[in-house]
Amino acid sequence: MSSKILALLGFVLFFAGFNPILGKETNASRLKRGLPPLPPASLFNKRPASAQPSYTPRPPWYNHPGRIHVFAGNGTALGYVGDSPVNGLNTIADSGEDLHVQPLARGELFDLSISSSTPKSRKTPLYLGVVTARNKPLRDLIKVSLSTVNQARRTTASEKGFIQSTIWSIDPSTKELKAQYLDPDGSKHPVLLAFDSHGNELHFVGDINLYNSVNRDFPSIVVRFYLSED
Ligand SMILES: *[C@@H]1O[C@H](CO)[C@@H](O)[C@H](O)[C@H]1NC(C)=O
Ligand SMILES: *[C@@H]1O[C@H](CO)[C@@H](O)[C@H](O)[C@H]1NC(C)=O
Repeated sequence: MSSKILALLGFVLFFAGFNPILGKETNASRLKRGLPPLPPASLFNKRPASAQPSYTPRPPWYNHPGRIHVFAGNGTALGYVGDSPVNGLNTIADSGEDLHVQPLARGELFDLSISSSTPKSRKTPLYLGVVTARNKPLRDLIKVSLSTVNQARRTTASEKGFIQSTIWSIDPSTKELKAQYLDPDGSKHPVLLAFDSHGNELHFVGDINLYNSVNRDFPSIVVRFYLSED
């Protein structure tokens, strides 16, 4: 067969399966050409573009005050983040001494403004954030403190030490709060929340094994924070 005939044959076979005049391409013809079948038409028709909201709906946790429920890694509820000090666990239910926070959504990371424990006389709210004695990368820190801080998007020197407040993110389905630490070079690293039951102290770690190798007598366990809207 000459190449001209082959080309003609290919042409005919092509139009047998795909007819642009009718505007229909069948799955069978696509499969023959090594293409995947077309997706069901309903996928495209379900939501006309005009019906889509042009704004992002506000997440339900946004600007709602809530408490922070603390769970051990095995799923046991341990208590709530306390009001005073904020790095203590309050295990007494309904004592009225739980910390109340309000997520102030901004972007990927947000602040947790403290709505309880801020004296009325204070003009600017306090935030739940991190404090370190030195401005170092996370890998060089054994422990990072959880504390009330002023608002600080970037690492800021304060009387307490180096502070950061814009560190929180939330899983919208589970409401788990997660935190990031900002290294001096601007890179962000997830930090784990940990609890030292001996000192009743909640804190952050980059590496729990490193922390526990240094604090053999009073090791910490990794805990999880969940925003509870009550
Ligand atoms: C075949 O294509 C049609 C659209 O032309 C689609 O609705 C159908 O779901 C497809 N079938 C398969 C098995 O992919
Ligand atoms: C879960 O972990 C906590 C904290 O370490 C511990 O007190 C508790 O006994 C554990 N519960 C179970 C069922 O393992």
